[in-house]
Amino acid sequence: MAYDALFDTVFARMDPERIHERAFAAIRAGRPVTERLFRVEPSPVTVMGVEFPHRFGLAAGFDKNARGVLGLLALGFGHVEIGTVTARPQPGNDRPRLFRLVDDHAIVNRMGFNNDGAAAVASRLHRLRATDAGRRAVIGVNIGKTKVVPVEHAAQDYVESARLLAPFADYLVVNVSSPNTPGLRDLQAVDSLEPILSAVKRVADDNHGRRVPLVVKIAPDLADEDVDAVTDLALSLGLDGISATNTTIARPEVLRTDRATIEAAGAGGLSGPVLAGRALEVLRRIRARAGGGLALVGVGGVTTEADVRERIAAGADLVQAYTGFIYGGPAWPSRLARVAR
Ligand code: FNR
Repeated sequence: MAYDALFDTVFARMDPERIHERAFAAIRAGRPVTERLFRVEPSPVTVMGVEFPHRFGLAAGFDKNARGVLGLLALGFGHVEIGTVTARPQPGNDRPRLFRLVDDHAIVNRMGFNNDGAAAVASRLHRLRATDAGRRAVIGVNIGKTKVVPVEHAAQDYVESARLLAPFADYLVVNVSSPNTPGLRDLQAVDSLEPILSAVKRVADDNHGRRVPLVVKIAPDLADEDVDAVTDLALSLGLDGISATNTTIARPEVLRTDRATIEAAGAGGLSGPVLAGRALEVLRRIRARAGGGLALVGVGGVTTEADVRERIAAGADLVQAYTGFIYGGPAWPSRLARVAR
């Protein structure tokens, strides 16, 4: 059965989080087959000093605990950004917390950084990096603030995660843009952001003799002036890149899904094609301001090969997606990867 038909007849009726768990188990188990089926000829590119097989990767949130990196790479992703990982393990928000707006090929989520915590994820990555395939894998590690840690102590919390995880990361991402941890997005204000990024950068720069590139991931809901302010801060601190963007808290008029379904989903971050316009605009804005001074990760609503080409043309060094994968199925990553050069 084609993936679209399977989606419409089976997945559309099931609980999204349970499907995610089952599909992810299948992705891990299927690796011996998928790595032959979906092989993508590498077209190596160096970004932030790291060699990527091509420019297309899986955005954060799918593999929060680094449980299936090799299975995901076998589908054709060039890199996987794991996380968000927080310093302490936490359960995330109550279920249901993941909703599909099928008519828009969109998702609303308020997962709330459910994850095993930095120590557990670090030991999983340690084991992975002890294997040949694990050493070759390009893995970004996305870190966030533990929910119960007050925002005044955010920097310390990020530093703890960075210390534990930097040794296994090809690059680190400071996530200050998820809408589902109270107060987190306020950390994007430069006065709050500066101490966090500076502190994490010290850890990333001094990681047992290997400097780990550092990226900050921002929300599409920032005003243009705030995007500029974060860009200037990233440049002045000597960060390696910016990832634009995370999910939006907006519910744009263009959504086709009926209002009752949207309201029933409730609060959370919206992702998928409706996000593409703003995500692209933010990417272009940062590229115009930063010139060649920063690497940029273009993420948000990437669904087609044309989207990948457009992000690269707009200045993205790397392109990522999550929601398109949910609706596109197992053959989708390799299709997009083939144009991500
Ligand atoms: C996400 N995203 C996300 N981002 C992040 O930095 N840390 C995270 O833990 C998560 N978790 C997460 C869960 C779910 C269910 C979704 C759909 C998304 C955001 C993701 O990485 C990406 O930035 C946005 O989803 C926009 O890209 P797409 O999905 O439109 O391609």
